[in-house]
Amino acid sequence: VERSYIMIKPDGVQRGLVGEIITRFEQKGFSLKGLKLFQAPKELAEEHYTELQEKPFYPELVKYIVSGPVVGMVWEGPGVIASARKLIGATNPLNAEPGTIRGDFGIQSGRNVIHGSDSPENGEREIALWFKEGELVEWTRTIKPWIIE
Ligand code: GTP
Ligand code: MG
Repeated sequence: VERSYIMIKPDGVQRGLVGEIITRFEQKGFSLKGLKLFQAPKELAEEHYTELQEKPFYPELVKYIVSGPVVGMVWEGPGVIASARKLIGATNPLNAEPGTIRGDFGIQSGRNVIHGSDSPENGEREIALWFKEGELVEWTRTIKPWIIE
């Protein structure tokens, strides 16, 4: 089954968007397999965005991610990686469609509220980076047959 690492960034936590964001993923039908609030260590934030280390905004990006607590989550379901990216919206919130999380709640790329994995490979890489084995829970939503045929 496909899994995505979703992280509510420090601005999303500070602005009180945690419940709203979780609700959107729950209502879409995906299953929550891991959830924690934590202060990201700088080394892990750097590793998480290692593909972007040559970008001019990389130092600011790392500072942003460690600027306050984040909520890390693992969401599971068919097509969750691409679907989560749609729910989240474009990187620049001004380009993100209304109805998406960034489209509804942001203005700048440097304060775009939430992260979502961009491929199944990166999803698994990020889950392994941010979660220990025992922190993930194996369970089935009883509503599942009403969401997945
Ligand atoms: P993530 O889900 O966080 O990975 O965002 P993304 O996949 O939509 O974009 P990308 O991976 O290219 O960039 C990672 C993060 O870097 C973005 O979410 C932004 O927070 C930040 N970022 C990207 N481009 C810019 C930029 O031009 N300026 C600034 N300040 N930040 C940027
Ligand atoms: Mg990305």
